[in-house]
Amino acid sequence: MQIGRKIIHLESVDSTNNYIANLLKEGILEDGTVILADEQFAGKGQRNAEWLTKPGENLTFSFFLSNVNLSVQNQYFLTCTVSISLVQLFNKFGLDAKIKWPNDIYVNNKKIAGVLIENQLSSSHIKNSIIGIGLNINQREFDGLNATSILLETEARKTPMEVLYSFIEMFNSSWKNFSQRMLPRVKSDYISNLFQLNELKNYEDSRGDFEGIIRNVLDSGHLVIERNGEEQHYGLKEIVFKL
Ligand code: BTN
Repeated sequence: MQIGRKIIHLESVDSTNNYIANLLKEGILEDGTVILADEQFAGKGQRNAEWLTKPGENLTFSFFLSNVNLSVQNQYFLTCTVSISLVQLFNKFGLDAKIKWPNDIYVNNKKIAGVLIENQLSSSHIKNSIIGIGLNINQREFDGLNATSILLETEARKTPMEVLYSFIEMFNSSWKNFSQRMLPRVKSDYISNLFQLNELKNYEDSRGDFEGIIRNVLDSGHLVIERNGEEQHYGLKEIVFKL
């Protein structure tokens, strides 16, 4: 299955993820459909945050995958594949991008793209997946947020459409080889591109601030940080990067 054979380009929508969810409810959604919007007026970020972006300057899109051949236990590998495709996309534009666990993309210690994956699970596998991506292209001002864009990093303007087509190409080339057999490779590509991997950095958990070293990510998606020589495992809301 390839994405992007059908692309729907909207001027304005609440959220491209919601738009896909609604089409899905109506039963009129083809596998691999991409929805792209110039403006989102209720864009969703991770952990119930908003995703704010200047209309027309960036890329905001979602795509739909049905009957993903991944067991529920391995759903994290989808996050890995999307993140790796984004890293490859930025590499193509000459940027050294890293994956800030679990799936933010950082360039020069600043966020350049974010991913929101909403999976519907059956008892054994991922039934449907809505994958939403916000990617900063031509925005220069981020109102105090620790964010950057392709323009700020390269001084080159790109159109959202050309970046979208490059992403589709990157994703499709990994997705066509995606199989159970490929999971170890996906995992090692993901880990080797992690932001702050093997570096002593500052983090905060429920016990307070500490210095630690990211060493690994488990198949469950938990982050492994070495702290005073011992490994600790963290879930999504359990750790803050102190940048
Ligand atoms: C994050 O980093 O918090 C995730 C951001 C995901 C934003 C994208 S923009 C397109 C899609 N539609 C949404 O409402 N959210 C995602």
